[in-house]
Amino acid sequence: MITGASGGLGLAFARICAKKHYDLVLVARSEGKLHALKDQLENEYGIRVYVCPADLSVPDAALDVYNYTGKNGLTIDVLINNAGFGDDGSFADCDWQKQYDMVQVNITAVMHLTHCFLKGMIERRKGKILNVSSVASFCAGPDMSVYYASKAFIRSFSEALAEEVRGTGVTVTALCPGPTATGFEKAAAMKSGSMMFRKAASAEDVAEAGIKALEEGRVLCYPGVFVKTVNILSRLAPRSVTRKFAERMNH
Ligand SMILES: NC(=O)c1ccc[n+]([C@@H]2O[C@H](COP(=O)([O-])OP(=O)(O)OC[C@H]3O[C@@H](n4cnc5c(N)ncnc54)[C@H](OP(=O)(O)O)[C@@H]3O)[C@@H](O)[C@H]2O)c1
Repeated sequence: MITGASGGLGLAFARICAKKHYDLVLVARSEGKLHALKDQLENEYGIRVYVCPADLSVPDAALDVYNYTGKNGLTIDVLINNAGFGDDGSFADCDWQKQYDMVQVNITAVMHLTHCFLKGMIERRKGKILNVSSVASFCAGPDMSVYYASKAFIRSFSEALAEEVRGTGVTVTALCPGPTATGFEKAAAMKSGSMMFRKAASAEDVAEAGIKALEEGRVLCYPGVFVKTVNILSRLAPRSVTRKFAERMNH
């Protein structure tokens, strides 16, 4: 199951998994895009693709997704919690509903889907979960405060779960991408040409790294030299410096 499979990283995850002959359940709001992808992947790779349209900002949408798999007799062995978005601008001036929806999609839906599927995975002693966090999880992010905090939550949550499930046959991985060329900038209403996205990685490269980490059962994945460097520097530098750096990068 891949959430946010209608574009960007989710679409890249779907293509890679289809190539590896996984059957897929695709989740996002854009039903038309998911059906087009289903037709393409089924024709090209001879796999079964299920489309489960859902708005994960709606409370209990994750439960509807879980029930969809039950009704269709599907067992989820791999869960990729990828759907998410940001919002550019100061917290004082932001649209409250967008922040609320962000927390629902970036945090609550990830927790809820994980809660729905994890128990079954442990009982079957088989399962892999990949949660898409971000380089934003390394520090505080002025002018994207809720987004950075949501990704810090996902990294911490995933690391803790990875230890809880150790030895059960289930693994949990947090992927922490840096700037990646997807629909993210537009969805976050960022001014185009922000310093952050000038040397963005490709969605395919980041997704490849994420799937490799998932298959290896690694806890953390920092794709690319930029993210690896920022990870090290963010541990060495005082937080007063890292938050200023993040502020500059966001502009
Ligand atoms: N791009 C980057 O620089 C970057 C860096 C680090 C981490 N990330 C993370 O990577 C993940 C994927 O984002 P992306 O970069 O690929 O951006 P994207 O191209 O905008 O894709 C976001 C995906 O999330 C889905 N989504 C958004 N709101 C949703 C909702 N309410 N319900 C269900 N699905 C929803 C979108 O589908 P619909 O619109 O069809 O619903 C879309 O498929 C996110 O978690 C993001 O935070 C991105």
